[in-house]
Amino acid sequence: MLYKVRLVKGLQRLVRQHLARAKTTESAMSKEQRVLRYVQQNASRGDPDSVLAAVDKFGWETEWAMNVGDVKGLILDRFVKETAPQTMLELGTYMGYSAIRVVRLLPETAKFLTVEFNPENAAIANEMIAFAGLQNRIIQITSDSADVIPQLKKKYDVDTFDMVFIDHWKDVYVRDIKLLETNNLLRKGTVVVADNIINPGAPEYADYVRTCGKYDSTFHESNFEYSDDIDGLEKSVYRG
Ligand SMILES: C[S@@+](CC[C@H](N)C(=O)[O-])C[C@H]1O[C@@H](n2cnc3c(N)ncnc32)[C@H](O)[C@@H]1O
Repeated sequence: MLYKVRLVKGLQRLVRQHLARAKTTESAMSKEQRVLRYVQQNASRGDPDSVLAAVDKFGWETEWAMNVGDVKGLILDRFVKETAPQTMLELGTYMGYSAIRVVRLLPETAKFLTVEFNPENAAIANEMIAFAGLQNRIIQITSDSADVIPQLKKKYDVDTFDMVFIDHWKDVYVRDIKLLETNNLLRKGTVVVADNIINPGAPEYADYVRTCGKYDSTFHESNFEYSDDIDGLEKSVYRG
């Protein structure tokens, strides 16, 4: 009898220790690591749509994250399909959600580059993209956008981009679209799409593309990711 009681208590202690360890591991993980783990446990390897669905489910139900998301994402999808870019640049990879979203719509011949300066985010994106099976279709560049934009022609063999998705820190949108212009990376008809025009907001950028005379620019209202708040994308076609 005494032996059985000791055995049960010992087992209970082991379970408590296991739960405590799991809790510590969970809280030691970053949000981005938790998203990746959720994807690995709930999506199908090699299936980009299932990866997007899992990231979105986590964003709506568990923890908010700054992906373009499934509502604005539909507008981005439409722009990508209409433009059918052969060369595309993304500024702000984060966990690779929008890169996966866009590249799943592109032909295998398309060249897609995405820039991220935070190495932890870039590492998560690398695993997310590999899980989606798109590792051979996405060129990840870990760098500050301002450093790499002037090198894109020589180092990454780019002539001009058909499409650009601007979704990094909002206060450098204007700096970087000007860098794209001065480095001759835009051509007549290049479609530049910028996220978060309303929330958290990019008013200087909106003002620039709407008034500088170099773009035909339109605002497309939508929802802020994983919320009912208003946000939107700006689509600006370069006049050349
Ligand atoms: C809003 S998140 C990008 C979300 C992503 N496009 C998506 O929808 O899945 C912005 C990302 O841009 C990165 N970032 C901000 N400023 C940057 C810069 N100057 N150069 C490169 N990356 C930058 C941040 O580290 C962050 O991961």
